[in-house]
This record gives sequence, structure tokens and C-alpha cells, in this order.
Amino acid sequence: MENFFDFPLTASKPMITANHQLRLQTRPKGLLAPGDLQLVESPVPELHDGQALAKVKYLSIDPTMRVWMAVDSYLPAVGIGEVMRAGGLAEIVESRHAQFKKGDKIVGLTGLQEYVVIESESKLPFQKVPSIPFVSDTLFLGVLGMTGITAYFGMTEIAKPKKGETLVVSAAAGATGSVAGQIGRIHGCRVVGIAGTDDKCAWLTDELGFDAAINYKHADWKEKLAAATPNGIDIDYENVGGEIMDAVLNRMNLHGRVALCGLISAYTNETPGPVNLGLIIVKRLKVEGFLVLDYASRFTEAAMELGKWKMMGKLKDRQTVVEGLEKAPDAINMLFTGGNTGKLIVKV
Ligand SMILES: NC(=O)c1ccc[n+]([C@@H]2O[C@H](COP(=O)([O-])OP(=O)(O)OC[C@H]3O[C@@H](n4cnc5c(N)ncnc54)[C@H](OP(=O)(O)O)[C@@H]3O)[C@@H](O)[C@H]2O)c1
Repeated sequence: MENFFDFPLTASKPMITANHQLRLQTRPKGLLAPGDLQLVESPVPELHDGQALAKVKYLSIDPTMRVWMAVDSYLPAVGIGEVMRAGGLAEIVESRHAQFKKGDKIVGLTGLQEYVVIESESKLPFQKVPSIPFVSDTLFLGVLGMTGITAYFGMTEIAKPKKGETLVVSAAAGATGSVAGQIGRIHGCRVVGIAGTDDKCAWLTDELGFDAAINYKHADWKEKLAAATPNGIDIDYENVGGEIMDAVLNRMNLHGRVALCGLISAYTNETPGPVNLGLIIVKRLKVEGFLVLDYASRFTEAAMELGKWKMMGKLKDRQTVVEGLEKAPDAINMLFTGGNTGKLIVKV
């Protein structure tokens, strides 16, 4: 019915009515199989006062999504039948929200879907992103987004690099590792990356300025790691775990530090290679795990610093963009098969 008396309405019908979503159907075993995430069409709910509707433009594809599909961790597991949780960048298309107006761009947990309703109160709120000439929106999911910010806090608060130290980064050609290694360079470290293809290794040394890069798929990679770290290793920025972490710990110097960012080799594989924890005692290592979410109140500070380095040309990045919401399950698998270089994004 029309609102003849111009009274404020409590709910309004959105102009967009259909929303495609990927909902969790079954908890994956190993890599995602067809049907673990199911594409469904749902109605867009009516907007109430305090809500806004945003169109999702880009989705951030992150290893932690595989964990969210399987078990309770730092966030509860995604429930069966629920829209799959994911970070994304979206643009407000209708608003009855005090903070956001039509056209605003925001980042936050959009979920794997075309449209997201923004609530006035949320535990994990959305943040507005600025429109900066010549700066691509997707940077706010990568270098200036969660993965860049993870590398920033992992390096500055946990690893605390000092000039002349040797830093080794695993999954070094990925979104987080590539930034962590470059932050090590900015702080004057000798930086050695570990990655899964020769092309990725060439990108690390030729474009990002890593001192050396080791392809862990070559049989002699441990000897090459030893040759690339003649003075031992002072900092392990660990993204992988298993056999790679074990080899790095073997070369750590006394009182070295391990910034434990992630253990991707364990996310799809129930038995990743063993890590000899005795090395932590023998070498008196300081091992500290961290979560980027713990630094939420300082995200702007990190983004400003990363943005400054990016503008000065000290931070380079690459993105792997997969087109289409329906391709998101394949994209998630790419993280575990090494299909991405730099930040992996789905363009919706
Ligand atoms: N603590 C936090 O708050 C936080 C936040 C964000 C991310 N993380 C962690 O950071 C790590 C990287 O995440 P990201 O988003 O930046 O992903 P990413 O590094 O862009 O992509 C994952 C990469 O990991 C490598 N990989 C996958 N399985 C592997 C295995 N079994 N052995 C060796 N390498 C393997 C692959 O590259 P190759 O070709 O080199 O194998 C792949 O491209 C993950 O462990 C993630 O959980 C932690």
C-alpha cells in the first residue's frame, strides 16, 4: 500500500528482490567438493529503520574460511544451511542506516552472496572505505585490508624485526606472506621466502626485493634454505606449519622468534607433517600466535602506514581475481593447491 500520509514507514520493500547466496550444505573433508556450498536464490528482506542494503562487489577468499566450515575456532563454525561467512567489499544501494548513505563503499563480513543487509548494531561492524583516485577498491581487501593488516601487526608487534636479522616467511607469495616479507625488508632484514612455484619465487626476488626465495617442491629445498640462511634464522613468520615449519625451526638461532600467523597445511589435511616442538626448548625460542582481530581498534593506524609504504613504492602487491560468485568454492580450493599469487579475490 502507498504511504499517502507521508508517515515514516517501519519497513520498506527493496528495489532489488533476489539475492544469490552460497550456503554451507555439508562440512568438507579435505578440499571442498561440489555441493559442500550450495548456490541458492533467496528474497532480499524488507529494510527496516537502522538497516542498509549493500551490493557485494568483491569477496576476500581466505584460508580461515575452510576452518569456519569445519569447527568452532575464534568464531563459531558456520551452521549448516547458513550463508557462508566471508569478508567482502560492498556498495550501499539503499539506506535507512544513520552511518551509511547510498554509494558508500564498505568492508566487513558480507558473506558469500550478492547482497548483504547491514544492521545498525553488529559485533563485527562494517567500515567505510575511502574513494581514492587511482587506488583500486580491491586494495582494501589485500594490502590495505585484512591480510596486509595481519602482516603489519604480525611483524611489528610479534616478530619485532631488527636491522641485519634473518627473516624467513612461509607461503611467502601469498597475500599475507608477501606483505610480511616486504615489511621485513623495510626494517632492514635479510628476507628469505618459501613458496610453491619457480614463478612465485621469481616474483619474490625480482619484484618484491626478497634476498632469496626457495621452492619447497624441489627435492633439495632444505639444502637451499640452509644456503640462503648462512647466519641461521632469527625470525620465522609462519603461515604453513608441518614439514616447512619443522625445517625452519631446525635453522633457528638461539632466542629466535616465531610469529605464528597460520598453519595452512593443517586446514585440509588431518595429518600435516610433524613439527619437533623440542626445538623450541633447545633453541629457547619465543613462539607467539596472534589474531588480527585482536588489533581491531588499531586497523586505521595499520592501513595508514601500509598506504604510506605503498605510495612510496616500498610495498608491491599482486591479486588473483576469479570472476563469479558461483566460482567461490573453486577459489577457496586454490588457496590449498597454490593457485593464487598475492591476494585471492572473487569478483561478484
Ligand atoms: N592470524 C591471523 O589473524 C591471520 C589472518 C589472515 C591470514 N592468516 C593466515 O595466514 C596464512 C596465509 O593466508 P593468506 O590469506 O595470505 O593466503 P595466501 O597465502 O594468499 O594463500 C595460501 C597459500 O598458501 C600456500 N599453501 C597452501 N597449502 C600449503 C601447504 N600444504 N604447504 C605449503 N604451502 C601451502 C599456497 O602457496 P604455495 O604455492 O606457496 O604453496 C597458497 O597460495 C594462512 O595460514 C592464514 O590462516 C592468519
